Amino acid sequence: MTVKVQRSKLAVAESFSRAAPSYDSAAQLQRDIGTELFNLLPSNVAPQTVVDIGSGTGFFSEKLQLAYPQALVCGLDLAQGMLHYARARHEKSLTWVGADMECLPFADASINLFFSSLALQWSEDLPAFFAEIHRTLYPGGLIALATLGPNTLFELRDSWQRVDGFTHVNQFIHGDKVRAAAAQAGLRERCWISAEKIMRYDALRELTHELKAIGAHNVNRARAPGLTGREKLKKLRASYELYRQPDGLPATYEIYWLLLHKPG
Ligand SMILES: C[S@@+](CC[C@H](N)C(=O)[O-])C[C@H]1O[C@@H](n2cnc3c(N)ncnc32)[C@H](O)[C@@H]1O
Repeated sequence: MTVKVQRSKLAVAESFSRAAPSYDSAAQLQRDIGTELFNLLPSNVAPQTVVDIGSGTGFFSEKLQLAYPQALVCGLDLAQGMLHYARARHEKSLTWVGADMECLPFADASINLFFSSLALQWSEDLPAFFAEIHRTLYPGGLIALATLGPNTLFELRDSWQRVDGFTHVNQFIHGDKVRAAAAQAGLRERCWISAEKIMRYDALRELTHELKAIGAHNVNRARAPGLTGREKLKKLRASYELYRQPDGLPATYEIYWLLLHKPG
């Protein structure tokens, strides 16, 4: 299978590393999505090894450690800046690992539970990711995933399309493809939920500042070169105004929650 790479991992890691100090203050939506994922975890499991993939500032890694005090809990992230930030702020019992989710540094069948909230949308090779999950999960082990679908930020994507032809918003993979890749790797689905959340903003700059603060702004190879000029931003604001509703400017997020297990 040929994988068309849209962005460099170094650029993704640098963007999230820079965002580490501002992430938590701007990440209410990410908190809510991760909390819903956390609530999907079955209550009758007692994992010995837990990995939070794309752990960011470590909020959910700590929650996992508190929920499973007997377990060795590890936060794994590509961005060194996120790992430094998390290591300085959380329980000493947590372990932090710098690695790529498509190439996990764990032995075969060594992990009981993977948790990953809002990191999978940064993967451009789902078969590699799910093959790694299948390889490293203990038989009967679980993975809980939250990720984003193609409708996410469509207002911003379409507004930019009307301004220039460049990619300004990440392209998100449809849920059917995510589910098919997981099944292909040999994982069985236990739960699948899809929903849309619409955020509201008074002004477009509130949304763009938020995306920058969480490190999720544009790092695609096909992005417009150089800085975005004033004229273009003015056109973008005018273009986005077409979506304005009485309660503000909407920004749609299409969210998937997925619980899978490796057959025992
Ligand atoms: C939107 S943040 C989510 C952080 C945290 N899970 C949360 O819910 O607050 C996405 C995280 O995924 C990490 N990430 C992106 N690509 C990755 C990869 N290939 N391997 C591991 N982590 C990655 C980023 O560095 C970032 O910390």
